[in-house]
Amino acid sequence: MIQVKDRSEIALMRAVGLVVADALAAVELAVTPGVTPRELDALAERVIRGHAAVPSFLGYGSPPYPATICSSVNDVVVHGIPGDLPLRAGDIISIDCGAILDGWHGDAAVTLPVGDVPDDVRRLLEACEDAMWAGLAAMRPGARLREVSGAVEDRVVECGDYGLVEDYGGHGIGTEMHQDPHVLNYRTRTRGPRLVPGLALAIEPMITLGRPATRVLADDWTVATTDGSWAAHFEHTAAVTPDGVWVLTAPDGGEGGLARAGARAAPWAAAPCPTCPGPM
Ligand code: MF3
Ligand code: CO
Repeated sequence: MIQVKDRSEIALMRAVGLVVADALAAVELAVTPGVTPRELDALAERVIRGHAAVPSFLGYGSPPYPATICSSVNDVVVHGIPGDLPLRAGDIISIDCGAILDGWHGDAAVTLPVGDVPDDVRRLLEACEDAMWAGLAAMRPGARLREVSGAVEDRVVECGDYGLVEDYGGHGIGTEMHQDPHVLNYRTRTRGPRLVPGLALAIEPMITLGRPATRVLADDWTVATTDGSWAAHFEHTAAVTPDGVWVLTAPDGGEGGLARAGARAAPWAAAPCPTCPGPM
């Protein structure tokens, strides 16, 4: 069932979105050679709880996910469990973070270079982030979900010869982290549901430098590429509004990223807690 939120509910999702953004910003500053993913996890948890929010990944699913963030290094695509192996210069790490505040969820991820990485790896990260913004830019009221999925795929193809992971995708989000609809990162045969104001989606492309195939490791969580190729993953939570997209987990509401993707954020999107005009 697709959950359509009203204006005040989307405002609550903005509040938790900013908590997630704050946690990711703190982690981003701490990513450096020598730090361990477990340390990054503790930092994210501290920031989230400091906002009186709760980590949403902790205890999720079965077996219960054991941490606040997912830390996915190099050939790990998503859902890597933070451990004690220090990051090394030249690694890449995807940090995925979710929180709950007043019953509402936010979910976002970013892939970061640790120190310097080769140009092809840097381009991998850029392509994945671009594809995420292309998907977010396609979240126009009245559009069909296929336009979002198709926009992600088209951008990946434009950027180069990447493996586009098909085993995981984005999702509706609201009072649960994972809601309908599932958001594939490639164009679907059917149009899919219509995007209406008040719909919130997590858009999260995953691409690789090799094949798109993945496998789940023995811990039942870690998703790695089968060919060992390195992977990138970016994610934002965003809402469809009558005035444009509102990227709830971006501090600027998506203004910058959407402009680069040729779209416009809702005019008030950068305000920390705007009164959103118009009916939702
Ligand atoms: N962003 C990830 C997702 O949407 C977070 C899930 S990790 C989990 O699937 F541990 F919470 F499952
Ligand atoms: Co997600």
